[in-house]
This record gives sequence, structure tokens and C-alpha cells, in this order.
Amino acid sequence: MASGGGGGGDGGRSGRPGQADKYSVLLPTYNERENLPLIVWLLVNTFGESGNNYEIIIIDDGSPDGTREVAEQLEKIYGSEKILLRPREKKLGLGTAYIHGMQHASGNFIIIMDADLSHHPKFIPEFIRKQKEGNFDIVSGTRYKGNGGVYGWDLKRKIISRGANFITQVLLRPGASDLTGSFRLYRKEVLQKLMEKCVSKGYVFQMEMIVRARQLDYTIGEVPISFVDRVYGESKLGGNEIVSFLKGLLTLFATT
Ligand code: GDD
Ligand code: MN
Repeated sequence: MASGGGGGGDGGRSGRPGQADKYSVLLPTYNERENLPLIVWLLVNTFGESGNNYEIIIIDDGSPDGTREVAEQLEKIYGSEKILLRPREKKLGLGTAYIHGMQHASGNFIIIMDADLSHHPKFIPEFIRKQKEGNFDIVSGTRYKGNGGVYGWDLKRKIISRGANFITQVLLRPGASDLTGSFRLYRKEVLQKLMEKCVSKGYVFQMEMIVRARQLDYTIGEVPISFVDRVYGESKLGGNEIVSFLKGLLTLFATT
């Protein structure tokens, strides 16, 4: 894959290792009251062990289950340096939740992950290692390579995910194995650039991001991850999201 990228030659791209690096974790939440304390605890521990500088940004979209109050407690427990609650009034969608979160991020790297424990923080040190190893612009977790996999999904959900990946691979050839996954690490300026380009708002956002990354010649490293279906609460992926995924895919196919 080509090196460099369309991001413009600002100083942040030097990939200097060491103390200067800071990782901003974006955690979008909608009804994650039960999951949030555990995911935050795991993140704090993981970063504590690895010694990397970090912050956790919680973007709650007015969850009726009281997730926001839980986040406020966590902010008190771990400190407002580490836990930044940046809520919105109502459910405005996953794509815009990331944009909102990113605007409050002070790290030079951004990590995007689900808050429902489907994405385990234990993979983050591997993402960071991988990024440094190849000086990558993006490191994408992949369920479809090496030891990666999906646990706990029923056949229908597996077929939807595989199908979405397969159709997109065929139509757009994006050069990454997991297009709809959302456990990823980005250079901040790369994510900013990609977000400016992205038109989709819902779940299709993940796929669009990686397709656009490819067009802009950003480099992508991959780390196999296991995705474990949530225990608490339910997925927000419904029939609507599937329809809008297909619409988004066709739009991309027609415009890229
Ligand atoms: N703030 C906010 N606003 N958060 C949201 C919204 C929203 O409108 N919708 C979902 N979330 C949060 C959830 O609380 C969770 O932390 C995360 O986004 C993922 O939502 P889930 O509902 O758990 O998604 P999923 O498990 O069905 O889908 C996963 O797999 C998809 C396909 O592989 C996610 O990783 C998706 O991002 C991925 O595309
Ligand atoms: Mn989930």
C-alpha cells in the first residue's frame, strides 16, 4: 500500500514514538448503564499497565436508562482529566457521535470502540504496537483474519456482517478485511480528514471510512480481534440500519 497519504504534511504525521503520544478513546453510549463501569475499568487498567497517556471520552445520547448519571459517577471516581463526559440531548446516531467526540479529543491518536464490551480493551496495546511497527495511519481490528472471530451472534447476524463485508469487498476493493467493524485506531488528523469526507451517519459510517481511507492512500495495519456479543442490553442495529447500509454502499459505489 502506498505510504504517505493525502493528509497534508503537518508535523503530527512524524510518528515520533514515546511520551508525546496520547490516545483519546471515544466511547459512544446509548443505554449502556450496565456495561459502562466495566469497560471504563478495563480501559483504565490497560492503559495503567502499558503506561500510555490516554483519555476516555463518553458520548452519551440522552440514554433513557441513566447511562449519563453513571458516566458522571465515573468522572468523579477517575477524575475529569481521564474521563470526559460530552453528552448530547438525544439519539443522533453513531457516526455523528464520533465526530462530536473527536472535537473534544486532545490526543494525537484516536481509538474508536463500542462501549458494550464487544471490543475488549486488551487489544489496544496490540493496536498501538502495530501502529508504531508500520507507522500506520490507521490500525483496524479485524474479525476476518488470523485469530479474529465473532462469538455469540446468531446465524442471521453473522450472515448480515459477512454479506456486508463481501458485497463491499467486491464493489469497492478497499484493501482491508473487516469493513464494518468499528474497533480502530486513527491518527487524529487522518480521522478528521476522513470525517470531513464521509457522508453517512449510521452504521455504514465504518465502511465508508475505510473505503475513503483507501482512496486517500492512507496506510492501514490490521490486528485480529475477537468480537463478543454483548451480555447486557441490546444491539441498536435494526432493519432500518441494514437498508441505510445498502443505500450508503450504492452511493459510494456510484461516487467513488
Ligand atoms: N451516542 C450514541 N448514539 N451511541 C450509540 C448510538 C447512538 O445513536 N447507537 C449505538 N451506540 C453505541 C452503543 O451504545 C455501543 O456502545 C456502540 O455504539 C455500538 O452499538 P451496538 O448497538 O452495540 O452495535 P452492534 O453490536 O449491533 O454493532 C457492532 O457491530 C457492527 C458491525 O460489525 C458495532 O461495532 C458497529 O459499529 C458495527 O458496525
Ligand atoms: Mn454491540
